[in-house]
Amino acid sequence: MANSLVLKGQTLSFTDDPFVVGPEAAAVFDTDGAVWLEDGLVKDLGRAADILSKAEGVPVVDYGDCLISAGFVDCHAHYPQLPVIASYGEQLLEWLERYTFPCESAFEDPTHARKAADFFLDEALKNGTTTAAVYATVHAGSVDAFFEAAGDRGLRMACGKVLMDRNAPDALLDTAKSGYEQSRALLEKWHGVGRNIYAITPRFAPTSTPEQLDAAGALWRDYPNALMQTHLSENADEIAWVGELFPEHPDYFGVYEAYGLTGPGAIFGHAIHLSDRERAALTESGSAIAHCPTSNMFIGSGLFDMAGLRGANDPATVGLASDVAGGSSLSMFATMRAAYEVAQLRGENLHPAKLWYLATLGSAKAMRLDDRIGNLSPGREADLIVIDPKSTPLIERRVSMGDDPWDVLFAQIILADDRAIRATYSGGTLVSERG
Ligand code: GUN
Ligand code: ZN
Repeated sequence: MANSLVLKGQTLSFTDDPFVVGPEAAAVFDTDGAVWLEDGLVKDLGRAADILSKAEGVPVVDYGDCLISAGFVDCHAHYPQLPVIASYGEQLLEWLERYTFPCESAFEDPTHARKAADFFLDEALKNGTTTAAVYATVHAGSVDAFFEAAGDRGLRMACGKVLMDRNAPDALLDTAKSGYEQSRALLEKWHGVGRNIYAITPRFAPTSTPEQLDAAGALWRDYPNALMQTHLSENADEIAWVGELFPEHPDYFGVYEAYGLTGPGAIFGHAIHLSDRERAALTESGSAIAHCPTSNMFIGSGLFDMAGLRGANDPATVGLASDVAGGSSLSMFATMRAAYEVAQLRGENLHPAKLWYLATLGSAKAMRLDDRIGNLSPGREADLIVIDPKSTPLIERRVSMGDDPWDVLFAQIILADDRAIRATYSGGTLVSERG
């Protein structure tokens, strides 16, 4: 039983979509629960008494009244941008020029890239994020560095080389041909090796020629199990620029459609300012959206239309994402809080069940990983987090006021930060713990 372990505490696991079936039907919540981990997977989930009687002789870690959940899934982040998090005063296109591109230029150096990947992953784990869909830079070595660092920690991570063959500094440009060849080689080297997933990554339509987008689509057709990630309709100037660069297409989403870059496994960051046609086409295609609320507020991009995209019976696939370093925090607590506030500014409410779903199973679904991660169901990979409900005096005081579990969860979402993440497990192994 060397690889067997029981974690005891309160357990919360989403097995369905609360936007569709409502909070109670979507979640399994147990105030006296336990999760049995074996050989990197969840073996069983249930009432503590039941699990403990079945798992006789298995070591038990008793986390008391802490909440055990699936690890957070951040379905859009840029690991190389952490050095420029919290950079002042610009909106998207100027922010890219002034801060992001200079920062990404340093990733030509593989040693720099490896240090940055280690730092990003340690911060992510401290914050309870066990899986992410990550942009590297244009440099192939930045992808190697990331997957090597993720592999050392046993993490399920997606990453890809950024494709950019125009409208960026020379030091950051590839060509349609070199970008295709390097992406293909990286995909063949890393995709499906260990827990790694390759994501074909054209940065966004303005920095790729039609030839490059075409090559990205061709690569995805050859490797349909890889992910495809890019940006869509984040900022008004960006959208106008796409209209100038691609006048023959009906709209921004239509550019990606034309090059075979839509469908299940495609993750579009932002998607704030969609037309009715784009919204319908995106939803119908099975593509996913990464909602990046701290970024959308920090760079001043706009307010995501959650009700429009997730209100219908057949909603678009949406996950939640930090978008560091346009986003202002790696914490999915901060990201859920921002999603709640953005919805409030639009006159909508986001129930805590919806927020937690988006940060776990919803993001897993956006990454086409919902049969592997995102909840505590038996057979899922044992990536989970243990949350201290009393991590600060203020939270302890607030939590003592409520006995409704959703109210307590909501207070955590609004008030907690990395201090609440007591332990993070990946593949059944403890990978981060608060001292
Ligand atoms: N659009 C194109 N590149 C980027 C990026 O790095 N961050 C954000 N937020 N938007 C982008
Ligand atoms: Zn982004």
